[in-house]
Amino acid sequence: MKSFYITTAIDYANGSPHLGHAYEKVLTDVIARFRRQMGDKVYFLTGTDEHGQKVQASARKQGVAPQEYVDRVSAEFKALCARLDISNDDFIRTTESRHKTVVRDILQKLFDRGEIYQAEYRGFYSTRQEQFLQEKDRLPDGSWPEIYGEVTQIVEKNYFFRLQKYQDWLIDFLKTHEDFIFPKYRHKQVLEFLKEPLNDLCISRPKERLEWGISLPFDENYVTYVWFDALLNYYSAVADKGLWPADFNVIGKDILVPPHAVYWPIMLHASGLPPPKALLVHGWWLQGGAKMSKSTGEAVSPLSFIDQFGVDAFRYFLIREMNVGQDSEFTVEQFLVRYNSELANNLGNLVNRTLNMTTRFAAGVLPAAEVTEEPERELHELWAKTRAEVVPLCENFQFHTALERGMAFVNATNAYIEKRAPWKLGKSTEAKDQALLRTSLATMAEALRLAVALMLHVTPSTTRKINEVLGYTPGALWLDELVWGAKLNGARVAPALVLFPRPTPPAKPV
Ligand code: MSP
Repeated sequence: MKSFYITTAIDYANGSPHLGHAYEKVLTDVIARFRRQMGDKVYFLTGTDEHGQKVQASARKQGVAPQEYVDRVSAEFKALCARLDISNDDFIRTTESRHKTVVRDILQKLFDRGEIYQAEYRGFYSTRQEQFLQEKDRLPDGSWPEIYGEVTQIVEKNYFFRLQKYQDWLIDFLKTHEDFIFPKYRHKQVLEFLKEPLNDLCISRPKERLEWGISLPFDENYVTYVWFDALLNYYSAVADKGLWPADFNVIGKDILVPPHAVYWPIMLHASGLPPPKALLVHGWWLQGGAKMSKSTGEAVSPLSFIDQFGVDAFRYFLIREMNVGQDSEFTVEQFLVRYNSELANNLGNLVNRTLNMTTRFAAGVLPAAEVTEEPERELHELWAKTRAEVVPLCENFQFHTALERGMAFVNATNAYIEKRAPWKLGKSTEAKDQALLRTSLATMAEALRLAVALMLHVTPSTTRKINEVLGYTPGALWLDELVWGAKLNGARVAPALVLFPRPTPPAKPV
């Protein structure tokens, strides 16, 4: 069994999760489930990023101790994972001792090797971004861009990590590992960034300024810069499991350069560890053209959608709508269009018809197909094509296109039913018509079974429910489930299943 280790970014524990966070977890879950279905031994990690200025500030605002605050927020993220049907094997919190120990060990090792040194730092500091700024960050009129918030001048001693020393190594690594970043076009963006000389990275914060962090093992007057701490979660969670390097660190495009594409590989390399095998970089969910975020105050809560439409409808939408790597505008209208036309009408109808007609014309027991004529042949051929396309599409993270193909097949199955019109065949007593009736019932049921098997990693509970009403227990090998067969012959179906009820207006979740 091939092992496959995949992670999400760990979310800042400084506010409630929104749809952007939910997307990253669902996307990673879809990949993890797909790899498991393909036979890999998967380890899937997610978690929360709990130290640093932002978290300390949020806790203060609420008048609670940071630990109490992060306990609460982290629990909220954990609960979201459960609601989203995320199949993570582990959930790491950067305040856990298993993480802190590894971070301190690595810091000590780097310090001992001379990779970390102390120096006096003078500079402009942005509290909001928790970073020192440079002259080049100023606007043409000399002021600082809005995103930095209040900028103050600071002189202090700090510890620095030798990034610059490894700049050439990183460039060479990127040039020789063309698959390090998916999608490929982001690779260029990183190389572009590396055309400018790197500054060494300030990895300490004096405790007078920031208390909430991991103390440096070689100087307890300082805590560790939050990114240096957070990135190591991917390693600390599996340090004793022999799973490093990760196959994929899944992240949003805002945290590629410099944290994941520059700091992270260099931190690992300097510590004598290999970089992750690849970074998978997704785009943003937008609202009115801007990134959906906590600070806009209008971010969409995933829970309201799950409550109203069910978890699989939500997962389906996120994966169907977004082309991995690109941005997508989120609107309730677009959600409802897909919910109604693709799930309720297209798939929901196929389920209803299959169950109704099997109940009505075959006393609820699925017959065997007896005839193969043009309509059956066409559907078989479309399935063969769909199946051949979908697996490579999923292997290349083109899940949205895979779902589109699956839905096209469901649509073709509904068209097949129209063509065969079993309700007419049911009125005839001719032997030929009876054989066609049995064939059409068997064909629509098998097509339905195949279509939902294809969607298993995106809509796991819907697939399970449909298998149940079809009286079917799938086998262990997913690829075998995708073969058109006679798996449902003699199965006893349930009379009905309500899967995607019409939303009761007004259907505007907040
Ligand atoms: N804590 C850091 C990550 C540390 S990883 C070692 C962080 N946290 S975050 O909460 O701001 O974001 C977590 C993830 O959610 C990031 O990958 C980010 O790109 C993603 N998203 C946050 N808003 C998003 C959208 N509007 N759309 C899609 N994903 C976005 O960054």
